[in-house]
Amino acid sequence: MSRFDEIREKFLEEAKGRTDSRSIYELRKKYLDRKAGEVNALMKEMRNIPKDEKADFGKNVNLLKDWVLENLTKMEEKAREAELQHRYESEKIDVTIPADKDPRGNLHPITQMKNQMVDIFAGMGFEIYEGTEIENDYYNFTALNTPMDHPARDMQDTFYLSPEYLLRTQTSAGQIHVMEAKKPPIKILSPGKVFRSDDDATHSPMFSQMEGLVVDKGITLCDLQGMLDEFVQQVYGEGTRTRLRPSFFPFTEPSVEVDCSCFACGGKGCKLCKGTGWIEILGAGVVNNKVLENCGIDPNEYSGFAFGIGIERAAMLKYGINNIKLLFESDLRVLEQINDA
Ligand code: DAH
Repeated sequence: MSRFDEIREKFLEEAKGRTDSRSIYELRKKYLDRKAGEVNALMKEMRNIPKDEKADFGKNVNLLKDWVLENLTKMEEKAREAELQHRYESEKIDVTIPADKDPRGNLHPITQMKNQMVDIFAGMGFEIYEGTEIENDYYNFTALNTPMDHPARDMQDTFYLSPEYLLRTQTSAGQIHVMEAKKPPIKILSPGKVFRSDDDATHSPMFSQMEGLVVDKGITLCDLQGMLDEFVQQVYGEGTRTRLRPSFFPFTEPSVEVDCSCFACGGKGCKLCKGTGWIEILGAGVVNNKVLENCGIDPNEYSGFAFGIGIERAAMLKYGINNIKLLFESDLRVLEQINDA
């Protein structure tokens, strides 16, 4: 066997099992390195070769060099392909895996409830008027026909900031501002915070109300009930009905409490409606002539209705919350459960 064949055999032997670029590179260095490579070492032997064999020897060295190069190139190509394949596989993305849940907050239940109410009434053509939380005695009480000796004016019920200014106890105060600023037809909705010195499982010193006011020619209680029927069906479900009961508010005459049929039992009687089949949801009435007059609106020409809904109460009924404090404690375990947007 010639030297050249020996080297070829040795090369093939050493090439076995080399499948990664790193070890193939080592092999390339071992055989083709300019200084230490085995093939180049042969060239250095040239001077010891007899003159007439020199040409042949040189040719064989070159053939060997080409052969080694060809083999290495093939191995390198194979290795590169395998390595690329490996990379593709290790970086493979399974597009069918469900995405990580993006934790999203939801609106506070009171805001959700308020938005639902606003949407419903906006759909009936109501405009929004947001009054101010600080009012004076005139707008909160006097203009609303509340007698000087009315218990609501009492220090125990109202937070006074001064003898004249107070934190509004009802969004009804907004009615006066609107009627002073605008002549009929009026159709406004006034949501906002109100304040009363009251604190138990169903009352909080700060809560929210939504006032509605419609003033135009020929407005009656029937218009009120028609709108409220639509309202309760949209909030508490189809088939919910309303019932009006006589009541008293200084700013309406007649005044009514409005009940809706119990949406938990459908009116048969249950724990929620305390066996009556009905749940009280709001106060309302025909705007008192005196209130219209206080705002410069002629009661012989115009009439109107008004209503006031407690938003926390509406939300508590809808979402089954039994203590109003749960709405103010910001406990995410509670708030996360209510996503009705
Ligand atoms: N302001 C009343 C309250 O705070 C609610 C109310 C009752 C508003 C009758 C009205 C109404 O507009 O007509 O309890």
